[in-house]
Amino acid sequence: MAQTPTYVLNDGSAIPAVGFGTYPLKGGDGTAAILSALEAGYRLIDTAVNYENEAEVGEAVRRSGLPRDQVLVTSKVPGRHHAYDDAIASVHGSLDRLGLDHLDLQLIHWPNPSRDLYVEAWRALVRLQQDGLVRSIGVSNFTEAHLARIIEDTGVTPAVNQVELHPRFPQSRMRAVHERLGIRTEAWSPMGKRRAPLEEAAVTTAAATHDVSPGQVILRWHVQIGSLPIPKSADPRRQAENLDIFGFELSPDEMEAISALAEDDGRLFGGDPDTHEEM
Ligand SMILES: NC(=O)c1ccc[n+]([C@@H]2O[C@H](COP(=O)([O-])OP(=O)(O)OC[C@H]3O[C@@H](n4cnc5c(N)ncnc54)[C@H](OP(=O)(O)O)[C@@H]3O)[C@@H](O)[C@H]2O)c1
Repeated sequence: MAQTPTYVLNDGSAIPAVGFGTYPLKGGDGTAAILSALEAGYRLIDTAVNYENEAEVGEAVRRSGLPRDQVLVTSKVPGRHHAYDDAIASVHGSLDRLGLDHLDLQLIHWPNPSRDLYVEAWRALVRLQQDGLVRSIGVSNFTEAHLARIIEDTGVTPAVNQVELHPRFPQSRMRAVHERLGIRTEAWSPMGKRRAPLEEAAVTTAAATHDVSPGQVILRWHVQIGSLPIPKSADPRRQAENLDIFGFELSPDEMEAISALAEDDGRLFGGDPDTHEEM
C-alpha cells in the first residue's frame, strides 16, 4: 500500500495529508469501521469527547497491532470543559478512554465565544504540550479574531485549525489567514455532507477523465489547495478509495471548475449539531 504524503506542522511534527473522520462511528460496528480504516492505511484518526467514541478509537488502534508511533490520534476539548482546570481534566479523560499515554493532536472543538473561556482552554493545551501529554496542539472552528487572541495571550500559534471546508464552501479567507500565520488547514465535512457535489458536472467530468470516483476528485481538490481532509466512511471500499488520491492530478481548468461550485463563502454552512456552539 502506497504511503500517504505528510506535511510538517509549525511545531516540526509530521502529519499525514489525509485523515479519517470517526463521527458518528460508535459501538462494535464503529470499532470495526475504524479498524478497517487503519488496515486500509489511514494513520491519522479524528475523534472528540463529544463523539463518545474515544474508547472505540483506542480499541481499534490496539487491535490494528500498529506501533503506537505510526498512528496519530486527534481529540477535542468540548465547550463545557474550557475553564483551565476543566480543560486539563478533559484531556486526561480522553487519554483514559483512549487507553493512550499521549495524544498526537489535541484541538479545542469550538471557541464557544459566548462563554469566553477559550483562551483558558488554549493555555491548558499549551501546558499539556509542555508536559508531554499532547504532541501538537490546535483549534477547530476558530475565526481570525479568535486565533489572534490566543496567539497574543500565549505567544503560541496553533498547529492546525480544523474548519468546515469543501468545494461549496472553500474557506478562501480563512485559508489565507492560516497561510499567513503558518497554521495547517484541516477540513471537516470535506465532501460537503448533505450538499456534497458528487453529481456536479465539474466533478463527474474530472472523475471520468482520470478514471476515479467523484469522491476522489473532491478529496484531490482538497490536496491541491493545501487542505488536509478527514473524510468519514463506514464502507471499506470507500475508505480505501478516499486514501487513494495521490496517483492523479487535476488540471488548472478542472480545479477552477470545481472551485466555481463555491456558494456564499462568507458564512459557515453549519446545520450539523457538531458545528454549532456546543457544550
Ligand atoms: N470540528 C468539527 O466541528 C467537526 C464537525 C463535523 C465533523 N468533524 C469531523 O470531520 C469528519 C468528516 O466530516 P463528516 O463526516 O461530516 O463529512 P464527510 O467525511 O465529508 O462525509 C461523510 C459522508 O460521505 C460519505 N462518503 C464518504 N466517502 C465517500 C465517497 N468516496 N463517495 C461518496 N460518499 C462518500 C459517507 O458515507 P459512508 O460512511 O456510507 O461511506 C458519509 O455519509 C467527521 O467524521 C469528524 O471526525 C468535525
